[in-house]
Amino acid sequence: MGRPLRSLQFDQIGYWSELKLSILNEYAKPYNEILKARNLHPVYIDAFAGAGHHIARKSGEVVKGSPVRALEVSPPFELLHFVDMDDTRTQELTRLSAGRHNVKVHHGDANVILPRDVFPEVRYDQYRRGLCILDPYGLDLDWNVIRTAAEQKSLEIFLNFPVMDINRNVLWHDHVKVDPIQRERMTRFWGDDSWQSAAYSGAGNLFGIPEKVSNEEIAEAFQRRLRDIAGFKYVPTPIPMRNSNGAIVYYLFFAAHQAVAASIVADIFGKYEHMGEQ
Ligand SMILES: C[S@@+](CC[C@H](N)C(=O)[O-])C[C@H]1O[C@@H](n2cnc3c(N)ncnc32)[C@H](O)[C@@H]1O
Repeated sequence: MGRPLRSLQFDQIGYWSELKLSILNEYAKPYNEILKARNLHPVYIDAFAGAGHHIARKSGEVVKGSPVRALEVSPPFELLHFVDMDDTRTQELTRLSAGRHNVKVHHGDANVILPRDVFPEVRYDQYRRGLCILDPYGLDLDWNVIRTAAEQKSLEIFLNFPVMDINRNVLWHDHVKVDPIQRERMTRFWGDDSWQSAAYSGAGNLFGIPEKVSNEEIAEAFQRRLRDIAGFKYVPTPIPMRNSNGAIVYYLFFAAHQAVAASIVADIFGKYEHMGEQ
């Protein structure tokens, strides 16, 4: 299978990323079992797949990333799509899946590749069903991907809603000073500019300056969008993923069209919910 490229860089990950990986792992098994029992074909889609492995920040140990874990799920996925924009990473993913004829590695922008090349392969009427992981570093996802996934009816998504990136770059108290490029990234992720009214309270403070609502309220507004605008039937309350200081780095969302899927994930989220809190 050869060695990794010398230029390949692994990410250092925090405790919250390891929790996310455990959650994904825990859901993939019952997902495949249920689909196979119904003679349906499970497909795995990792849109921001990463290098396949990471380094745990605290221990320095190598940790398996989401695509490697997906390759090991039992019962297995019938087809796996890995997408990444970094070509050293897609080369590594190709190396890690050598000899597996059911793996397709795509190099490029997931916002283009998913709706164009991947989602059309997971057709509901062909008895295919897909579990799609949307795990960007920050506001790098286009709402069109989420909307197209929902329309397809055959797809469920786990989605990283990067609230720390959003707070740092977009939701400033003095919103007039925010870089227009960051506003545009937010609008692209959110799907329109209604995030502005969702994120600031209309009443304003003593001086009439709009005040930012809590992280939880922003996450609730996005949860409603996934249901009411994208059209996913079930969107359980997302799980906040916290750093070692207890601050929320992102919310992990799940969205699906099947009640059973939402109920399994809500149980898994419930189990992990208070881990990482101070
Ligand atoms: C958070 S990491 C993924 C970690 C992985 N899901 C895991 O848990 O093991 C994000 C990855 O997205 C890739 N990336 C960033 N923008 C992208 C884009 N527009 N399309 C595809 N990949 C992208 C980066 O190169 C990086 O490898």
